[in-house]
Amino acid sequence: MCGIIGYIGSQEAMPLLVEGLKRLEYRGYDSAGLAVQNASGIGIRKSAGKIVRLEELLSEHPLHGTVGIAHTRWATHGAPTTPNAHPHVSLNGELALVHNGIIENADLLRRKLAELDCEFQTETDTEVLAHLIGTLYEGNLEQAVAAALTQVEGTYGLAVLSSADPGKIVVARQGAPLLLGLAEDGDQAMFVASDVAPILGHTRKVVYLDDGELAVLRGDGYALMDVGSLDPAEPTRFIEKEISRITWDLGKIERGGFPHFMLKEIFEQPATIRDAMRGRVLEEEGTARLGGLHGIFDRLNSAQRIIFTACGTSWHAALVGEYLLEEYARIPVEVEYASEFRYRNPVIPEHTVVVAISQSGETADTLAALREAKRRGATTMGIVNVVGSTIARETDGGVYTHTGPEIGVASTKAFTGQLTVLSLFALLLARRRGMSILQGREVVSALRELPGKVEAVLQSQEQLERIAEAYADHPNFLYLGRGAHFPIALEGALKLKEISYIHAEGYPAAEMKHGPIALIDEAMPVVVLGPDDSVYPKVVSNVEEVKARGGKVIAVVSEGDSHLRNKVDHVISVPSTIEMLQPILTVLPLQLLAYLIAVRRGCPVDQPRNLAKSVTVE
Ligand code: AGP
Repeated sequence: MCGIIGYIGSQEAMPLLVEGLKRLEYRGYDSAGLAVQNASGIGIRKSAGKIVRLEELLSEHPLHGTVGIAHTRWATHGAPTTPNAHPHVSLNGELALVHNGIIENADLLRRKLAELDCEFQTETDTEVLAHLIGTLYEGNLEQAVAAALTQVEGTYGLAVLSSADPGKIVVARQGAPLLLGLAEDGDQAMFVASDVAPILGHTRKVVYLDDGELAVLRGDGYALMDVGSLDPAEPTRFIEKEISRITWDLGKIERGGFPHFMLKEIFEQPATIRDAMRGRVLEEEGTARLGGLHGIFDRLNSAQRIIFTACGTSWHAALVGEYLLEEYARIPVEVEYASEFRYRNPVIPEHTVVVAISQSGETADTLAALREAKRRGATTMGIVNVVGSTIARETDGGVYTHTGPEIGVASTKAFTGQLTVLSLFALLLARRRGMSILQGREVVSALRELPGKVEAVLQSQEQLERIAEAYADHPNFLYLGRGAHFPIALEGALKLKEISYIHAEGYPAAEMKHGPIALIDEAMPVVVLGPDDSVYPKVVSNVEEVKARGGKVIAVVSEGDSHLRNKVDHVISVPSTIEMLQPILTVLPLQLLAYLIAVRRGCPVDQPRNLAKSVTVE
């Protein structure tokens, strides 16, 4: 997601826009830019990197004028470079546009515009939209914008300036948030923004645009209309809307109303899992399409071994990936801590693909392990969230998880995004290595149902509150799981320890007998993952061993479970799905439990002590 702000009034626009961009940085921060209009035309300044880079540029090359639009980018298509930063221009720089969303038919439009001799400077879909408006401009900016939007498929929240039709900002919304800010009484000015954060310091009076609406902003007010009613041959249908008053403080707005970014990101997971799958699931063929692997597809097809390398939560995702690829694609898989892999003398036989998993794409150990694998001749692949990050750029191919900026240091939505991509990857390879089309369609159907099931699990917060209250003061926890839920046990333990500072260990459930069982007593809460799967009876036996020694058991079970639930002290139910996807559901209560315990303990959930969001040092 990106952030937009625009201003038209009597004050200098540049400082207002830069301040607004800083308030929007949590929506994305890999490049930023602005356009300011004055009597001599439209000036553009943009830069890759954080807003501070843009500020440095503006301190040397300021822009003067009282009308402007600005944008901070979270790249989804097109690397985070300065040319790809918004605003994008057309009409020889007479028109400037900023955009949040995805133009899904951009390639088709680009080809049509190229026939009209449009020359493109970037690989972005937004530049296509700018040129489309430019070619349809006949003296009225809002009519050109409306005409262009009738040809667009996709989502947009946009703002447009034109020096040919000065003194106005034209904005429109379809599928991406956009609102107008009305100056407080006595001031003449208008704002447009992706959300209220960047304008809160100037006004609390806002008008929310709905899909299909377009507005023309001038210094003394605005006109709101239906995009479809801007046909010059038709009378314009104007829309009246009530003015809303914002009561939230800035911190709450950036967190979308949640008390912490971590909780916001936990609840974003239905949407981020959809985004991780978007355009990648082929119903008919019962398989997945991962465009970023084109360049290495032959080497993946002939791979005789896959080595995952990662750190922390991403290493847990790699462990789940091992179960998926060996179970469904029958490829031998190893999982390596990146910090170990880079320093030992690993054997990397021919036909090995090394897969680096990393949310940030900048983790030093993972990057070093990747470079070591390349030096030893391996084909490399990335599963990364941050577009254009170092790991993403240095692999031979890869798949972005598309989960958006993850601000909370404890990884949640990025983890389930990684598991979703790993499931797609396993499906793609499995269908080329013996999985039938019917089995493939079963997986596809389960993937489609997954976001709804994630939503259902996230309704269990109240139950988890009671468990958090009962155990928040316990000094130790044990997490147990079998199969692909053993890595989930590790992940649950990591979540708890990194944000609540409680010592927690994850273990294969069967391993408990080989030592950890000595820890069991009534003071040791044991979280057990016991979904209804092929090893369920074994998990039940492990629970009985714990109960026989007075341990307290918190079990994550499948809805409808009637056996395990009668043997334990607390139960959290999750919907059933196919075994490949079940870990994505069983991890959710563990994320929430860790969060609720940490909040009870008064811990700084979003920035736990001693931790950093991206460990770019050894
Ligand atoms: C996860 O909650 C931690 N913040 C940490 O273990 C993290 O997963 C690890 O540092 C790897 O980061 P990466 O995915 O950005 O490479």
